[in-house]
Amino acid sequence: MTSLPMATFLQSESFIYVLYIVAFALFIQGLRGLSGPTTAVRGNRIAAVGMAIAVVATLLNPGEGNWGLIALGLAIGVAVGVPAARRVKMTAMPQMVALFNGVGGGAVAIVSWVEFRGLGSTYGSHTVEIGGEVIHTGGVATYVAIFSVFAAIVGSVSFWGSNIAFGKLQEILPGRPISLGSAQQIVNLVLLILAVAAGVDLVAGAHSELLFIGMLIVAALLGNAVVLPIGGADMPVVISLLNAFTGLSAAATGMALNNPALIVAGMIVGASGSILTNLMAKAMNRSIPSIVAGGFGGGGAVEGAEGAGEHGGTVRSIGAADAAIQLAYANRVVVVPGYGMAVAQAQHAVRELTKELESRGVEVSYAIHPVAGRMPGHMNVLLAEADVPYDQLKEMDDANPEFQRTDVSLVIGANDVTNPAAKNTPSSPIYGMPILEVADSRSVIVIKRSMNPGFAGIENELYFDPKTSMLFGDAKSAVSEITAELSAL
Ligand code: TAP
Repeated sequence: MTSLPMATFLQSESFIYVLYIVAFALFIQGLRGLSGPTTAVRGNRIAAVGMAIAVVATLLNPGEGNWGLIALGLAIGVAVGVPAARRVKMTAMPQMVALFNGVGGGAVAIVSWVEFRGLGSTYGSHTVEIGGEVIHTGGVATYVAIFSVFAAIVGSVSFWGSNIAFGKLQEILPGRPISLGSAQQIVNLVLLILAVAAGVDLVAGAHSELLFIGMLIVAALLGNAVVLPIGGADMPVVISLLNAFTGLSAAATGMALNNPALIVAGMIVGASGSILTNLMAKAMNRSIPSIVAGGFGGGGAVEGAEGAGEHGGTVRSIGAADAAIQLAYANRVVVVPGYGMAVAQAQHAVRELTKELESRGVEVSYAIHPVAGRMPGHMNVLLAEADVPYDQLKEMDDANPEFQRTDVSLVIGANDVTNPAAKNTPSSPIYGMPILEVADSRSVIVIKRSMNPGFAGIENELYFDPKTSMLFGDAKSAVSEITAELSAL
């Protein structure tokens, strides 16, 4: 048996493929870990190791490129990415995901452009004349051209769309829908047709870099035109959709470059992003086309109600001392957290309160709505951070039958996800959205700062229910005040 020199072995195709297979196994193992909060951190680390192996395997390819530039790129990426990810607040996570997702889409579009500069002149079937004889040359396979052009369009849409989503969530851009009114859909359609037509022309052999750049610009306009008319509060669903787009465009680049790591990682992102988008849209009772067409969730003007609501009922306001007495005499309390708990960063205060209640023999659990907050798993992550035992968190389907035997439902900064209009009022924009049926419990305490509506911009019938008491204030201070009153009892 002849022994291969080490460098040749490390750069051999078989060794690189083995590394890729190890990386894929780690991606899948990592994804499995992400299915539950207790294993998620480990899952994330496993997938990160897989990605590091895939990067090393790609760099081992002979003649991979300019090492100085690659090192510079890695250094800039680490210097920007690591501190940003460490410092980001949980409430700012959706815009961070938007930004990083956009970078992925942009990278894919640029790689496709670079590919076109190298191979574009061989797209399509063409002939050369040598010594008066016409010879058909092979050129690049058509599928490579198709995938490359697809990746460029979708990557560019994703980059620009994600940047707009980031701008809206970061409040750099107005959160309200910005649209051309009824002309919007026509403009979007025209831009899509132009981008696809340019792509078809390129694949057919139009050897024009100017056309490629034009296609990238039209796709950029399309990304802006699709996301600008969508309200800020619908952005998490849009980001998840754009995430799926980035994954698909990365997989297409992988096909064009014949890079299995990009194909597999891109397809995993594309598939999981699509499933997540679908689940989020379902939990909000919204169809993806209706979100993309804009409307509900505009995050704009809100009709706040003071005193009597449109249902003619009155609102009962209580103080922390009354709330503490009500909770102290309960046998069973269900905490219903929402976006307001995240904004106030009240999770640790909530944990202190529930510990105090448990020490008094009160049975406590938490009811988690799938879209409470502004991103999937928002409440789970916050409560896990505050060391709430995972078995106390109840998913909506498990929590709902339990409300009937609950003495007090303590709603902390949650609004739409508790609104009975979703069941009772067919004309309501949230009609049909599954809710936490807190109104079934014997009494309800709602902590929020005012009578202002939540994300959907509608009044909550629950606040006018005679068994509901409102404790107005910031979630963190209100919960801490209740705990202080409880300890003094
Ligand atoms: P919302 O319905 O948005 O209500 C949150 C409430 O928190 C507001 O009414 C607000 O009332 C209160 N609040 C804000 N800051 C507060 C603070 N510092 N202290 C106390 N209260 C505070 O939230 P939700 O019930 O969690 O429902 C989530 C909504 O977001 C749903 O409509 C859902 O469809 C939508 N959404 C969710 C997702 C995901 S994936 N989670 C994605 C997109 C959209 P005040 O201003 O009166 O305090």
